[in-house]
Amino acid sequence: MTDLQPVVCDTAEAMSRQAADLIVSLLREDPSLLLCAATGSTPTRTYELLLERYRAEPGLFDRMRVLKLDEWYELEMEHPGTCEAYLQRHLLGPLGIGAERYAGFDSRAPDSDAECARIRTWLADQGGIGLCILGIGRNGHLGLNEPGESLPPHAHLAELREETRRHPMLVDASERPRHGLTLGMAEILQSRRILLLVSGAGKREILARLLASPVTTALPASFLHLHPAVTLLCDREAARGN
Ligand code: GLP
Repeated sequence: MTDLQPVVCDTAEAMSRQAADLIVSLLREDPSLLLCAATGSTPTRTYELLLERYRAEPGLFDRMRVLKLDEWYELEMEHPGTCEAYLQRHLLGPLGIGAERYAGFDSRAPDSDAECARIRTWLADQGGIGLCILGIGRNGHLGLNEPGESLPPHAHLAELREETRRHPMLVDASERPRHGLTLGMAEILQSRRILLLVSGAGKREILARLLASPVTTALPASFLHLHPAVTLLCDREAARGN
């Protein structure tokens, strides 16, 4: 039915170890790898494991570049629930990646179109994404590309679905954002490689739908069927019944 073949790992820990191994092997091929990084609970352990690699071999991440996949719009950048705060805490800070090797949407940018254009220009100047790490929303979103009748191809301001606004990252936000800034499917699909991580029983249903789905904007993750180099790692909990 599909070329998107999940690699089923026994546990979330094993999935995260395999993900970290893949990142490190790509970094050895290309030390200045541009990593596009998702946030949320799914990739956190993978990022922690990268810190272990860094401790063992500090030079490994000296040239790696990072691009933030998406951001909640209008949440102050300093708020602990932003994707920015997450990446600073779990990836950029621990690996010593400073502003000269990093770009990400500004959650408070007054002009969202100009902000999306700035990110697209930065990405073009950097030569494109080497590895895009993605999680999947329970409604099938990638980044903040939400299900709908159509998908804007490029980086854009997205109106968030109610279920997305209930994401645990936003639990402490006094007002949950209504919009997000996200790379579009074009930027995601132009990545040389994609790593999709799916873990936990809560993702079982959407994983089953993804594997059986035709390409449709009703399930943005289904666009991954079009990409020639996707690694889909999941744990047994998410794969059960698939
Ligand atoms: C949010 C993030 C996405 C992430 C998704 C899944 O929408 N903006 O980048 O992939 O949630 O999150 P989790 O891994 O916590 O389920």
